Amino acid sequence: MSTFQDRRAPARRRLLAAATLLSALPLLGAAPAALAQQSDPIRIGLILPMTGPFASTGRQIDAAVKLYLAQHGDTVAGRKVQVVLKDDASVADTTRRLAQELVVNDKVTVLAGFGLTPLALATAPIATQSKTPMVVMAAATSSITQASPYVVRSSMTLPQVTVGVAEWAPKNGIKKVVTLVSDYGPGIDAEKAFKERFELNGGKVVEQVRVPLRNPDFAPFLQRVRDAGAEALFVFVPSGVGAALMKQFAERGLDKAGIKLLGTGDVTDDDILNDMGDVALGVVTSFHYSAAHKSAANQQFVDAFQKANKFRPNFMAVGGYDGMRVIMEGLKATKGAGGEALLNAMKGQTFESPRGPVFIDAQTRDIVQDVYIRKVERQNGQLWNVEFETLKGVKDPGKAGAAGAPK
Ligand code: PHB
Repeated sequence: MSTFQDRRAPARRRLLAAATLLSALPLLGAAPAALAQQSDPIRIGLILPMTGPFASTGRQIDAAVKLYLAQHGDTVAGRKVQVVLKDDASVADTTRRLAQELVVNDKVTVLAGFGLTPLALATAPIATQSKTPMVVMAAATSSITQASPYVVRSSMTLPQVTVGVAEWAPKNGIKKVVTLVSDYGPGIDAEKAFKERFELNGGKVVEQVRVPLRNPDFAPFLQRVRDAGAEALFVFVPSGVGAALMKQFAERGLDKAGIKLLGTGDVTDDDILNDMGDVALGVVTSFHYSAAHKSAANQQFVDAFQKANKFRPNFMAVGGYDGMRVIMEGLKATKGAGGEALLNAMKGQTFESPRGPVFIDAQTRDIVQDVYIRKVERQNGQLWNVEFETLKGVKDPGKAGAAGAPK
């Protein structure tokens, strides 16, 4: 958290500079569509963490974007669609600079990717200023869609995927819980949504612990969980971090002490689940995607993905795959035009994703989707998040006015 706060003042100055640069080019918003030659490629600027601690997110989304284009073709209205991939190494200042370059120099029609919340928030003003649709394929803090009217999200929000397990736990005899979250946007969202929904259903959150986003040492925090005498620990950590948490949970003997582990599915991320070992068995999470989701569409997706990549797709991959679907179908509808027309063509899309039925809510520009309660089981020698309950068509409850929104 502090990493991002400390940079705030220079970041603002840089943003102002970017805004000045953008407003000095009044044609910018209209330029890519209006001036494009029919033979020019349509460019998508894809910004992902391809290196650094969150590189697994970049690797998953990049692979899924490539798969979508390989399966569905890369031409729209007679023009090639070209993905310009940039690595921001999960540093917000870099994301912002890359987004600016992609808009100004590469004249991209769409910005996409965004592996972490601060990276999406750093880019939102550039999307607004340049009228460039921005498809958030990973970042999941509820408020991101409100940071720019040009944001469309194909991932999820933390409140959306948290309330399922917050309702499941008290109905299954778990009444006393400690929460542990990464100390930044999605963690704060998960902590709040869990407490509200869990206590509404008769549970009690006895302690709330926040750990640093980068290089967290969970050991001292886990000791506090033991001392608080809770029946279960609810966890949110971003994709890729779950294995370290799980290891320290076992090393501290929390599983042996009978403390149950609950979470959003980020902690039992399909990318790393198989390497976690027995400590993961029985962990209950709620989430929008499991590689074990039973549908023909998912089976085809997982098979094709694994064939192309030799690793299992996780929810980041699905966010990238569906994000590409939203972009490509939008471009087809506008015959390659961008700006507001493309934004409007993205809103309201309804389709079957590998995760299940989804739609892009035209009002909120967020994805509405089924959320599943899952338990980690070993099947055919591998660990999977096995879905056993479904909540249909869940909107982000973090938005004012959404069904079930906290008052
Ligand atoms: C985020 O930073 O918004 C984020 C990243 C990874 C996740 C969830 C949320 O697994």
